[in-house]
Amino acid sequence: MSQRPIHFYFRGAVRQLEGAAPSRTVLQYLREDAHATGTKEGCAEGDCGACTVVLGEKVDGQLQLRAVNACIQFVPTLDGKALFTVEDLAAIGQPAGTGLLHPVQQGLVDRHASQCGFCTPGFAMSLFALYENNPHCPSRSAVCDALSGNLCRCTGYRPILDAVPAAYAQERVSLERPAVLAALDEMAALPALDYSAAGQRFIAPRSLTELAAARLAAPHARLLAGSTDVGLWVTKQLRELGDLIYVGAVPELKTIRVDEKGLCIGAGASLTDAFEALIAFAPAWAELARRFASAPVRNAGTLGGNVANGSPIGDSMPGLIALGAQIVLQQGDQTRRMPLEDFYLAYQKTALAPGEFVQAVLIPPPPAGQLFRTWKVAKREDQDISAVCGAFALTLTDGIVSRARIAFGGVAATPLRARATESFLLDKPWCAATVEAAMDVLENEYTPLSDMRASAAYRSQVTASLLRRFWLENGGAAGAPVRLADVETLA
Ligand SMILES: Cc1cc2nc3c(=O)[nH]c(=O)nc-3n(C[C@H](O)[C@H](O)[C@H](O)COP(=O)(O)OP(=O)(O)OC[C@H]3O[C@@H](n4cnc5c(N)ncnc54)[C@H](O)[C@@H]3O)c2cc1C
Ligand code: FES
Ligand code: FES
Repeated sequence: MSQRPIHFYFRGAVRQLEGAAPSRTVLQYLREDAHATGTKEGCAEGDCGACTVVLGEKVDGQLQLRAVNACIQFVPTLDGKALFTVEDLAAIGQPAGTGLLHPVQQGLVDRHASQCGFCTPGFAMSLFALYENNPHCPSRSAVCDALSGNLCRCTGYRPILDAVPAAYAQERVSLERPAVLAALDEMAALPALDYSAAGQRFIAPRSLTELAAARLAAPHARLLAGSTDVGLWVTKQLRELGDLIYVGAVPELKTIRVDEKGLCIGAGASLTDAFEALIAFAPAWAELARRFASAPVRNAGTLGGNVANGSPIGDSMPGLIALGAQIVLQQGDQTRRMPLEDFYLAYQKTALAPGEFVQAVLIPPPPAGQLFRTWKVAKREDQDISAVCGAFALTLTDGIVSRARIAFGGVAATPLRARATESFLLDKPWCAATVEAAMDVLENEYTPLSDMRASAAYRSQVTASLLRRFWLENGGAAGAPVRLADVETLA
């Protein structure tokens, strides 16, 4: 790989950038270097959405546009992509000099959806991505989901939600896609990025082979994927990251495949794409997916980053462990697999060897008759960290529990299976009495800690309550629906 500047499409042309430290954020670049101050800084940790920008990439020959948080993305990750900010919107589809706003901006104005205005550019950018990706006005719940990463402290959300139908009621405008795609093609022809500045190196291999070689050559370097964990180490902990190996330019790592061996999700697949595949595989993922962070964090963050980070409160792991997932690790040209639960050795300590990286997560086909649920319990509906996250996968044969896998996060130093409860359930009839008795076992299975999110007693109690919920949601004794959503549907 040879050294070259960062290239990205911005304001109608391919720009080149040198000299910026590899861990300089896109937000710092925009506000301090490009003086594009429409993009705001609120929290600098991906939580408020004031810094929302839209990135364009070529996927399957089409332009894919997704909102992300500029405050936790590093500038070299822009390489080969298109960057759109709030200043770009008014020019889209409008003759120069008309002064007309983009429909999403006009919708916000018409519905009085802005007061102090600090959050408004972020809302406009999330809505711009939604608008470009949906030719027809999406449902209110789809709009709420698209805005799950945007906070407003003054206006209240109803006028903001009302801005969407107002935007769609106007004459439709659209981004000039061929010009953007041509720029993306031009950048794709460049060699893989190898970039150094301020004593820090950033390399972005373009294939699995290149990544494996780079990782072996520099086992000390930090792997970087969606930067939704690592970004905060810089903006909040002011850590020096050293050299970085970016996995986001390796197409093989973004592959998602379903075949007779099950569902295989490449470690570099975004959480948005990974959850879409997981929901198709087991629909019970839908609620957890919607409550995992926010749309922009899921657009940037990867499944590989979530499992590799090894946080005891990572939300994907309990469900994956319950479904019997294996983690695929690669070092050089060698790969090895292990059950995901065995990957976690101690608090934030994993089985990853020097020079190794996570290549994929493999979920086997479900046994016939498997019941599955996974839930997070947190104080807020959106954008919150779990107090407890749990998952249950039970197989029934003639009303008897023939297979049980239960896993929890937030109750120990690592995500952990509830092996005592699993053994207790095995070969028992699946009935209210078994569930009540198993709840006692589960309540005493873990010794969680008390912290600001929940007390130890609450955590123990909630693990048991989730088992009852699992029983009830799967029909309970009466077979009646117990979820509010189901009751509403019946009414
Ligand atoms: C606002 C906000 C909300 C969040 N909400 C949630 C939530 O609800 N639930 C939740 O679980 N998490 C949440 N997170 C955490 C984060 O989004 C996830 O952990 C995400 O999956 C991390 O993926 P990433 O690609 O961004 O990883 P990165 O930040 O790029 O990397 C994370 C770690 O994984 C390592 N790594 C990355 N890829 C690989 C690989 N292929 N092989 C080996 N190591 C690798 C990196 O070196 C680093 O140690 C949130 C984060 C933010 C900022
Ligand atoms: S500044 Fe709050 S999400 Fe980026
Ligand atoms: S208008 Fe003030 S924060 Fe939203």
